[in-house]
Amino acid sequence: MDIITGIKEMQDFSRRARGEGKIIAFVPTMGYLHQGHVSLMEEGKRRGDVLVMSIFVNPTQFGAGEDYERYPRDLERDQRLAQGAGVDVLFAPTVAEMYPQGYQSYLDVEEVTRHLCGLSRPTHFRGVTTVVCKLFNIVKPHLAIFGEKDFQQLVTIRRMVVDLNLEVEIVGMPTYREEDGLAMSSRNQYLSPDERKAACCLSRSLRKAQELFERGERNAERMVKEVRKIIETEKLATIDYVKICDSNTLKDLEYIDQEAVVALAVKIGKTRLIDNTVLNLLHFK
Ligand code: PAJ
Repeated sequence: MDIITGIKEMQDFSRRARGEGKIIAFVPTMGYLHQGHVSLMEEGKRRGDVLVMSIFVNPTQFGAGEDYERYPRDLERDQRLAQGAGVDVLFAPTVAEMYPQGYQSYLDVEEVTRHLCGLSRPTHFRGVTTVVCKLFNIVKPHLAIFGEKDFQQLVTIRRMVVDLNLEVEIVGMPTYREEDGLAMSSRNQYLSPDERKAACCLSRSLRKAQELFERGERNAERMVKEVRKIIETEKLATIDYVKICDSNTLKDLEYIDQEAVVALAVKIGKTRLIDNTVLNLLHFK
């Protein structure tokens, strides 16, 4: 596995690979890798000739008072995991390389970023789209793989790619979970043992939503109430939002008559976790 830290070097590598007719698959991450990231890499391996993964804890997507400084970092362990998963190039730039003195350009996807996490993290998606667009220009991938775990992020990036005519295929992958249902996340390691147990209420409440949907419930308000009830039984949990929205526009739905997503953000102690489940009408008409 090659480790590249320079932007110019990465661009030269990708230009050469493209010149040789190779398909470049790309998995952007912030590191502290887990099985969820690995499932994305495996898909990249299947789809591309060259697999590039980036590790960059992107400061512009963290708001003031968020966890940028204490976000978990372990490059050595990540290198081993990436190598094991068959990554060909690990791109790990520094902050000074990505945002040098004088940097002042940002990319804003307007509508879909206003809902859900956009309300409590108003500058987050601007940071995500800016860094992902930069990474696309640096890595020059044919396809890039993202997790459905960050559903709004995936919708936002798909929107950016369409709106700006970027020549990258966006591939979404299902959420990889722990045995008890908790969605894997680098932030899970902030949880104390008690909080870790309490965190199961997110996936438990989403399973309830699926169950209700399968039994024919189509009223969003009633479903949200049931989901909230389950989360509220956990003393350590504080709900940021529970929403049922159109899976393309992320606008709130009153009645589930098109593909919908149940999306939630919950604080367990001080740790903010997100999860979601898609309600697919094709399966249950
Ligand atoms: P990060 O949180 O490291 O996630 C990197 C990729 O892994 C994202 O596409 C995310 O959706 C996916 N992922 C995380 N947990 C997952 C799980 N349990 N199952 C499946 N996929 C999962 O998301 C980011 O980094 C950043 O915002 C980034 C896109 C790299 C831009 O900085």
